[in-house]
Amino acid sequence: MKFFIDTANLEEIKQAQDLGVLDGVTTNPSLMAKEGITGDKNVMQHYKDICAIVDDNVSAEVISTDFDGMVKEGEILAALNDKIVVKIPMIKDGIKALKYFSDKGIRTNCTLIFSAGQALLAAKAGANYVSPFLGRLDDIGADSFGLIEDIRLIFDNYGYETEILAASIRNTTHIVECAKIGADVMTGPLSSILGLLKHPLTDSGLAQFLADHKKAAGK
Ligand code: G3P
Repeated sequence: MKFFIDTANLEEIKQAQDLGVLDGVTTNPSLMAKEGITGDKNVMQHYKDICAIVDDNVSAEVISTDFDGMVKEGEILAALNDKIVVKIPMIKDGIKALKYFSDKGIRTNCTLIFSAGQALLAAKAGANYVSPFLGRLDDIGADSFGLIEDIRLIFDNYGYETEILAASIRNTTHIVECAKIGADVMTGPLSSILGLLKHPLTDSGLAQFLADHKKAAGK
């Protein structure tokens, strides 16, 4: 399973990269705004800064919602760095843009996926990644893991190479369940990745090992 971090915070991206387990970064306009990154020039520089930290897979989202606008923005983003994956919303013109970029060999991530039908359509249009939003489905009481299972089944039925990028991850259970179902990628906050480290029996076990070592050494 690939691990992406879902943030535009450079310090958190560096921390995850330093762990040695990071495969990429996803951003969105809300995450960029949270870091106070505004204005085209600053936004472009921020994407370059992220690309300088990680090895690959930096999802950068277009703001336009019409085909021409998405193509123009996506081409500018893709030209910034080979690591950029153009993030396109699941709307009608977005499907056309996914096909356009697929034909040009520019990688894409189709975002705001909430149904298996949307994922199927994005895969047919040649998206490299589809991003179903788990946490937001949980928020409305919908079956988020069932959606991942359905998309996995459909993609496997037809051999689609589009990767399932489980997004809106909120906790470690989301990550582990997605790994069991077979999501290709998860993107979550740093806390969700670091949360995988934790178990109280690990803490108490280590404390006991160290105490026994100290006793045996007569310290
Ligand atoms: O980047 C898209 C997605 O991961 C957003 O997550 O927590 O805002 O629902 P969240």
